[in-house]
Amino acid sequence: AKITFITSDNETIVAEGTTGNVMELAVKNKVKGIDGDCGGVCSCATCHVHVNEAFWGAVGAPSELESDMLEFDDNVSDYSRLACQLQVNEVPDGLILKVAK
Ligand code: FES
Repeated sequence: AKITFITSDNETIVAEGTTGNVMELAVKNKVKGIDGDCGGVCSCATCHVHVNEAFWGAVGAPSELESDMLEFDDNVSDYSRLACQLQVNEVPDGLILKVAK
C-alpha cells in the first residue's frame, strides 16, 4: 500500500511497500518521530500514529494489548494506533497517518 506520513513538523513523506509492518516502512523511509525501539513487538509505543479519520473504519481499532500500551502515551487520541501492529499489505491504499508527538 501507499502510505502518507505527516510528521509533527508537518513534513509529508509518501512511502510504498508490500511487506512487513508500517513501523518498519516508516523507519526505512526515515519518518521522523517513528523510532520502533522495541522492534515491533507492541511494547514501546515509539511508533504511535494517529490514523486519518477517513481511514479509521478500514484500519480498525487496536487490540487489547495495543490499547494497554497506548494508555501510557499522553497524546493518545480516538484514532491512535501503533504502526508496528499494522501490516503494509493489509492497510488501505492511500492511508494517511499523522505521527504522534
Ligand atoms: Fe514498539 Fe511499535 S515498535 S510498539
